[in-house]
Amino acid sequence: MSTPASTPHTEHAEHAGVAARARALTKAYGSGETTVLALDAVDVDIARQRFTAVMGPSGSGKSTLMHTLAGLDSVSAGQVWLGDTEITGLKERELTQLRRDRIGFMFQSFNLIPTLNARENITLPMDIAGKRPDAEWLEHIIDTLGLRDRLGHRPAQLSGGQQQRVACARALASRPELIFADEPTGNLDSRAGLEVLGFLREAVDSLGQTVVMVTHDPGAAAHSDLVLFLADGRIVDEMARPTAEGVLERMKRFDVLHGAASDAADGADPAGGTTAAAAPLASDPGVPPTDPLAKPTRDDPSPQD
Ligand SMILES: Nc1ncnc2c1ncn2[C@@H]1O[C@H](COP(=O)(O)OP(=O)(O)O)[C@@H](O)[C@H]1O
Ligand SMILES: [Mg+2]
Repeated sequence: MSTPASTPHTEHAEHAGVAARARALTKAYGSGETTVLALDAVDVDIARQRFTAVMGPSGSGKSTLMHTLAGLDSVSAGQVWLGDTEITGLKERELTQLRRDRIGFMFQSFNLIPTLNARENITLPMDIAGKRPDAEWLEHIIDTLGLRDRLGHRPAQLSGGQQQRVACARALASRPELIFADEPTGNLDSRAGLEVLGFLREAVDSLGQTVVMVTHDPGAAAHSDLVLFLADGRIVDEMARPTAEGVLERMKRFDVLHGAASDAADGADPAGGTTAAAAPLASDPGVPPTDPLAKPTRDDPSPQD
């Protein structure tokens, strides 16, 4: 591995290599006066076979980071690699294939196809790719996630927790190198959320998978190996072996420092960390309607299991 000039966020990266890497990753939306800098020159290494959580206020760039790392969204500047493959610069077709082969994605809103039953939803990405799932693996996932007696049900016939477990099975079915989960427990009650978190943890510990998960919940983040904290499109801190209490404390500190720094143009480093003071940016936390991926409203978990 090369030694980059900057200091990437890479605490565990020596463990089993790097599953995904970004350098100077920048994403701007809009142009002119209405430009929003969703990601501001982010350097990050996502360690392989680790569970990384991404936290930060609404609008801090968490989803954009996931989407650009997963090749779901283009970048404005900078580079992204999946393993050794640089994905920035790939043609859409190559990107689509690479995503299919190497990435699993879980969304807060599950994104299941309503007309397909659970089993069909689970295998859909592989069906589209013309690939046959490894039968033993598929059955193992189905049993581990407790979906055996729900396979013939359509999403509307499943609880929220069951739907998210189907989405989890779908993300795991092709044994992707990397699973991105964007607030996967945001629409679940705490019991169903714990199940999903337990399975993601298991996917890393027993199955050697790599998971990156956005969450607002310190308790959920505590299941991870490393928490990256985002603010204003930058990684401002990280915490290894997190506890819920530790994460909560850290978040409180950010709120205070972040609020204090926002009107001090030449202010001190808001996180005492590796970045300069956050630039004053548009802070609209809403998702514009042009968002290419259907994303639900956030910050209002509505248990529905
Ligand atoms: N498609 C888009 N068009 C314009 N602005 C966007 C789009 N997606 C996100 N943004 C803006 O980029 C910033 C980061 O958004 P996002 O990554 O969704 O944050 P988070 O997931 O942390 O809530 C926000 O200011 C948001 O409004
Ligand atoms: Mg988001």
